Amino acid sequence: MTNSSDKIHQQLLQLATQAQKNAHAPYSNFKVGAAILDENNQQHASCNVENAAYPLGQCAEAGAISAMISSGNTQIKQILIVSPNDNFCPPCGGCRQKIAEFANDQTQVHLAKSNGEVKSVHFKDLLPLAFGFDKNEST
Ligand code: THU
Repeated sequence: MTNSSDKIHQQLLQLATQAQKNAHAPYSNFKVGAAILDENNQQHASCNVENAAYPLGQCAEAGAISAMISSGNTQIKQILIVSPNDNFCPPCGGCRQKIAEFANDQTQVHLAKSNGEVKSVHFKDLLPLAFGFDKNEST
């Protein structure tokens, strides 16, 4: 039986997988897709876009964040990252900081393998003690 959260996972997975197909990854041959559910229940997807000048490449999560922000939405309720193989593709350190900018204590991160297996974690467990101007403890 499916409930509404399963349905959201499926939609995010479908959207991320579609974007993943368009990834530009000729250097790593590692195609990643990401999809975000925002605070208004709109969904945004992207893929990694590499560059011959390697450091200029952009991760899939960064593209999905750009799509969310340019659509006028600002909060990541859920983000799903689909890997190109049978390992999970957890967000890299840089992407964790980028996600932190628009995440909150409820933000969920879904990691999907290429076979559709999904593992879900809370974002706060992926980046404890994250840097942020409003997140510093005073003690
Ligand atoms: N990549 C992502 O798109 N997201 C991640 O969280 C990890 C890595 C991309 C960057 C690069 O294009 C390729 O995967 C190999 O590192």
